[in-house]
Amino acid sequence: MHGRYTSLTLTINGERRVVAFPTHHTLLEVLREECGLTGTKHGCELGECGTCTVLVDGRPLLSCLALAAEMQGRAIETVEGMQRANTLRPLQAAMADLGAAQCGYCTPAVLLTAKALLAEEPAPNRQQISQALAGVLCRCTGYHKIVEAVEWAAAIERGEPAAPAREALWGSPEPRGATLDPEEDSR
Ligand code: FES
Ligand code: FES
Repeated sequence: MHGRYTSLTLTINGERRVVAFPTHHTLLEVLREECGLTGTKHGCELGECGTCTVLVDGRPLLSCLALAAEMQGRAIETVEGMQRANTLRPLQAAMADLGAAQCGYCTPAVLLTAKALLAEEPAPNRQQISQALAGVLCRCTGYHKIVEAVEWAAAIERGEPAAPAREALWGSPEPRGATLDPEEDSR
């Protein structure tokens, strides 16, 4: 450490890189500002919203509450680390197909938190999925699609033939007798 700056080697997404940063900066700031890894989102900075979640040694951590200076020797994973050429992982594909990523602000945190859950519990039930994701706030989806996506991805990763309910992909069937013609409705 040198005065108010720290220079150390961080291991991020499997790559070791030397990073210099103001000593008081959080891991969130260093990932985004010094490392250019803006997939990790900046939300409340208060430990409330979970959108800054990354994995450290395989476990979810709020990067807005962690000092980067304390991360030497730890394995840090951001959402960029989930990239595998041009192929989506089951979690990513399921989130996209089910509309579980809408504005996308919470999505990196959801993906990483779900990845950590499936590493520990390959067959989680809905309650376990909800509990694991309880710290990540989503303003768009109502959570149901996210839980369905994690459940679907878990089944695919277990090698089980699985498909979400037709309604999950296409919406509820039109109620019997319903009409899409507004003029007919107003008669
Ligand atoms: S930015 Fe909201 S918990 Fe970290
Ligand atoms: S998709 Fe918008 S906050 Fe979750």
